Amino acid sequence: MRASEYWDIQAAEFDDQPDHGMSDPTVREAWAALLLPLLPTAPARVADLGCGTGTLTVLVAQAGHLVSGLDFAPRMVALAREKIAAAGVAADVVVGDASSPPWQPGSFDAVVTRHVLWALADPEAALATWIDLLAPGGRLVLIEGRWSSGVGLAVADVVELVLRHRCEAEVTVLDDPALWGGPIGDERYVITSRR
Ligand SMILES: C[S@@+](CC[C@H](N)C(=O)[O-])C[C@H]1O[C@@H](n2cnc3c(N)ncnc32)[C@H](O)[C@@H]1O
Repeated sequence: MRASEYWDIQAAEFDDQPDHGMSDPTVREAWAALLLPLLPTAPARVADLGCGTGTLTVLVAQAGHLVSGLDFAPRMVALAREKIAAAGVAADVVVGDASSPPWQPGSFDAVVTRHVLWALADPEAALATWIDLLAPGGRLVLIEGRWSSGVGLAVADVVELVLRHRCEAEVTVLDDPALWGGPIGDERYVITSRR
């Protein structure tokens, strides 16, 4: 099975997880309070790579940003488009590979990804490509984790990858239960790089 087929199968129930669908206002508010201050002043051009069902795409678009989402699983993209239409926001989501996005270098003020880098065959190459998408002064916002299931990336490893290309990699540990719909016992974090 191709990786995109695996994610296509996940799509229908993906939003059942509290942090995926964010149907609980407490969870949604926690993500808004975390993520929006990390972004440049709106309206900024924001890429949401591996956008899944588009929950973060909509959250960021509702804050007035110009969001371009991308995911290689067509069913994820279809759900993201439905969510964007239902929210009445303007955001564009396409089917594509996050390792080689179809956008010009320097075309975004921020690149946001949540729980995608760990899933890629070559995280270092993908990260270099994402950084190239940033305009001067652009921000990289990487939300990642190493889950109790054993999958994921340790924060130290991702910091090391980011610092091969950037001067800054600021880590915030995401241990607030409000972000996840309950207490967690594993490693979850956001790495923000402004330069
Ligand atoms: C754990 S989900 C996270 C979805 C979304 N970022 C969120 O936080 O709600 C991982 C997503 O990355 C997508 N993905 C994985 N590898 C990808 C790739 N190479 N190119 C594009 N999307 C990819 C999957 O289809 C899936 O939607």
